[in-house]
Amino acid sequence: MQPIVAPSILAADFSNLGQAITMINESEADWIHVDVMDGVFVPNISLGIPVAEAIKRHANKPLDVHLMIVHPENFVEAFRKVGADSITVHAEACPHLHRNIQQIKHAGAKAGVAINPHTPIVDLENIIQDIDMVLIMSVNPGFGAQKFIENTYQKIRDMKALILAKKSGAKIEIDGGVTLENARALLDAGADVLVAGNLIFSSPNPKQIIQRLKRI
Ligand code: DX5
Ligand code: ZN
Repeated sequence: MQPIVAPSILAADFSNLGQAITMINESEADWIHVDVMDGVFVPNISLGIPVAEAIKRHANKPLDVHLMIVHPENFVEAFRKVGADSITVHAEACPHLHRNIQQIKHAGAKAGVAINPHTPIVDLENIIQDIDMVLIMSVNPGFGAQKFIENTYQKIRDMKALILAKKSGAKIEIDGGVTLENARALLDAGADVLVAGNLIFSSPNPKQIIQRLKRI
């Protein structure tokens, strides 16, 4: 089966965002991955609601919003209002994760939960049936173009086993350090969605990279 491919707009030239979105629109990419960072949950600040709104206005693909922020409950409705199709929050940032999931679903978006490299799969045992997606961070969140963490393969296999055991329909999304070299192995381990920033946007031919990921 072909993976869902989600280019991460974080790696695009922000002075030419329109061109990046046109490229994604014309490519075989499935979603646009939007990384929101608050400088508190992660040591970086990226973009917020007005930029997500501008992206949505030009995009003809679903917006996959990855909130790397504390208190995501304060912004779920706002991101939904500007057109987020899926909203993913970090388990580590949400002491009331079940409530956050209900809020996202109630707002009408697909609900995802992201986990950092150190967070064990078992933390999602009691929430996996309620969510549409699990985002396994394969780098520490905060920056693009980092080195892929090898332990991710085992986490994907364990996550897949939990999803099957609990009869959940959750997709597994991999975020960080995805390359043409590791993509096949990630899918074989059980990944459904591949996020790629640096790989796509540092290429002179981003559409071709997206096509190669789709056919990996
Ligand atoms: C990292 C972000 C990722 C990042 C991936 O905090 O969540 O989405 O943009 O970038 P690459 O593919 O460059 O590792
Ligand atoms: Zn991301």
